[in-house]
Amino acid sequence: MSSLAIEQSIDQKFAPQSKRGQGESEAFLSVLKERRTYYQISKNAAIPDSRVEEIVKYAIKHVPSSFNGQTTRALILFNEDHDEFWNSTAHVRDMLPAEQMEKTQQKLDSFKAGHGTILFFDDEAVIRQQQEAFKLYADNFPIWANQSNGMAQYVVWTALEKEGFGASLQVCAVNPDDVFGCRLTKSATKHYNPLVDSVVQTKWKVPVTWKLLAQMPFGVPTGEPGPKDYRSLEERVMVAGKKD
Ligand SMILES: Cc1cc2nc3c(=O)[nH]c(=O)nc-3n(C[C@H](O)[C@H](O)[C@H](O)COP(=O)(O)O)c2cc1C
Repeated sequence: MSSLAIEQSIDQKFAPQSKRGQGESEAFLSVLKERRTYYQISKNAAIPDSRVEEIVKYAIKHVPSSFNGQTTRALILFNEDHDEFWNSTAHVRDMLPAEQMEKTQQKLDSFKAGHGTILFFDDEAVIRQQQEAFKLYADNFPIWANQSNGMAQYVVWTALEKEGFGASLQVCAVNPDDVFGCRLTKSATKHYNPLVDSVVQTKWKVPVTWKLLAQMPFGVPTGEPGPKDYRSLEERVMVAGKKD
């Protein structure tokens, strides 16, 4: 099948015409509540890898982006490639102070215990083109790309959960004090991008302009998510002009 045909078949599979009207968003909204962070995951697959691929492609295609720049990129790693990715993060652990190493190794092992990992990137080449084309907004394009990327992460995360997987999100921490910026963070106990970019470029031939932002390890859950607190909506949402 040509890549165009694959794209069309993905759209047909996921997009039967949905109804509009009060209450029609309920199925969608209830899924939002179900998505959680799962750290205990297994190699078991809830669905075929090809279905995961379809979901990611569908999300990447339809999630909005500023000026329709379509800056989000993804690399989906399954099985041995997933293992290899998490093995490649070992050198990050080795750069840490001894007291942090063990904890970090446990975290890395828990991600590797999963079935796959989706890496999310922004394509800096496209961002640069946007900056050139719309100089007035130059400073904003990296931020907007990041926001769009987060939307794609969220859609994939939520859809994977609905299909029977559990996932977590490991996001790059930008630390302005850091010489290497995003690629080497001081809080590396939690973040696994440092220097991993170059491994990903070499091993999976990812373009150098793809900047790694986040990793989403997933697998069939072997444990429940932890408790979650919610701040009062009174302090988070303001309303004005409401009539009914
Ligand atoms: C932008 C963003 C960055 C996050 N970064 C991390 C991370 O680096 N590591 C991690 O374990 N969880 C990370 N999370 C997950 C949050 O900790 C988690 O979503 C939050 O505690 C709420 O829990 P829930 O996902 O179970 O609803 C991140 C979430 C978001 C939205």
